Amino acid sequence: MADTDIKKGLAGVVADVTAISKVNPDTNSLLYRGYPVQELAATQPFDAVAYLLWHGELPTDEQLAAQRAEGRQYRALAPEVKTAIDQLPLDCHPMDELRTAVSAIGAIDLAGKGSVLDAVGTVEENRARSLHLFAALPSIVAYGQRRRQHLEPIAPREELDYSSNFLWMTFGEEPDPVVVDAFNRSMILYAEHSFNASTFTARVITSTLSDLYSAVVGAIGALKGPLHGGANEAVLHIFDEIGSADNVVPWLDDALASKRKIMGFGHRVYKRGDSRVPTMKAALDTLIDFYDRPDVLDLYSTLEAEFVGRKGIYPNLDYPSGPAYNLMGFDTLTFTPLFVAARITGWTAHILEQQASNALIRPLSAYDGPDERHINGYRPDTEAIAIAERPEEAAD
Ligand SMILES: CC(C)(COP(=O)(O)OP(=O)(O)OC[C@H]1O[C@@H](n2cnc3c(N)ncnc32)[C@H](O)[C@@H]1OP(=O)(O)O)[C@@H](O)C(=O)NCCC(=O)NCCS
Repeated sequence: MADTDIKKGLAGVVADVTAISKVNPDTNSLLYRGYPVQELAATQPFDAVAYLLWHGELPTDEQLAAQRAEGRQYRALAPEVKTAIDQLPLDCHPMDELRTAVSAIGAIDLAGKGSVLDAVGTVEENRARSLHLFAALPSIVAYGQRRRQHLEPIAPREELDYSSNFLWMTFGEEPDPVVVDAFNRSMILYAEHSFNASTFTARVITSTLSDLYSAVVGAIGALKGPLHGGANEAVLHIFDEIGSADNVVPWLDDALASKRKIMGFGHRVYKRGDSRVPTMKAALDTLIDFYDRPDVLDLYSTLEAEFVGRKGIYPNLDYPSGPAYNLMGFDTLTFTPLFVAARITGWTAHILEQQASNALIRPLSAYDGPDERHINGYRPDTEAIAIAERPEEAAD
């Protein structure tokens, strides 16, 4: 295989078709099932967008009411899930906590399934599992933040919508509509983004006919990395390091001289700006007004102008969402779990799509290790030689 045939990082490789979302880097646009994401963020509650991603169409009032009634039964965490979380060290990363909790939910739900084949599930079972995780994740995220802050957990409230209940369980106060609206928009913007690394991970795991929970656990692991979901957390660390707008120029001089990546900027697909940023920046602006924090805007705009001016690399969604979550009161470590709570919709939609049209995902590699060699004094046994001559019998 020629080196030119290898697409490092699978850059530019079209791996399959999807009907879930369309990213167009030329027009900087993002469509979920045909709808521009900005339009959905301006008009829809997050759970209606979840329905759209799973079913292909926006729900009628009756369909949304039925989904809400079913989802609310999953909001409260099972005692075993709380115990699994409580046994983890208080200073473990909340993404590790989330991964463990989802794994526990899966183990409980799939208990009694005799073989791995029985765990795969029908389309209906997997839709129900998707809704289960969608409804339970806010409880896990809120439980984790309160646990780290040595606060009592707060039970979910049935009558509250998704975003209000999420904020209620985290902070124990009825949230202001400005905050609910900004939060709802952020969830919609983070919901789906075609074959990004975590979604692709979920699809790879699904392609082996493993179960939905295993695919989501793997996706959480992929999202944890700072080149993917971990960037929103990293943006706040950068803001903390810089301190105020006055320090941007010397800080950036140092950072670029030491070849640091500036978190929250750049994107594998969008090279001329991330289509989601203007909507999230508008939501951040409403929060800056609401909390009266012009200093945040100052730092945000100064760093953006300096970095874009020098490198021509534009902010991605993590740049405005990091400070927005900080203003709402989420601790920095909770930012990537918030991304999980949103992206569970896209991941599970892709898992359903992969199951409906499956092919095992198994690429090839070009070998550039040592040529064949042998251990001094080793006498080959005839069985090993026989298998080497029948490679189809060796396990992958
Ligand atoms: C997202 C990201 C991994 C995309 O990577 P990519 O498509 O592989 O782009 P590249 O790494 O090839 O970038 C091309 C050039 O721009 C530079 N660059 C890209 N993003 C940069 C950033 N955020 N800060 C500094 N330099 C950056 C690279 O160092 C590279 O420079 P070089 O050609 O001198 O080596 C990358 O932009 C990044 O690491 N961003 C910061 C993390 C982040 O915000 N992730 C969230 C993504 S939604």
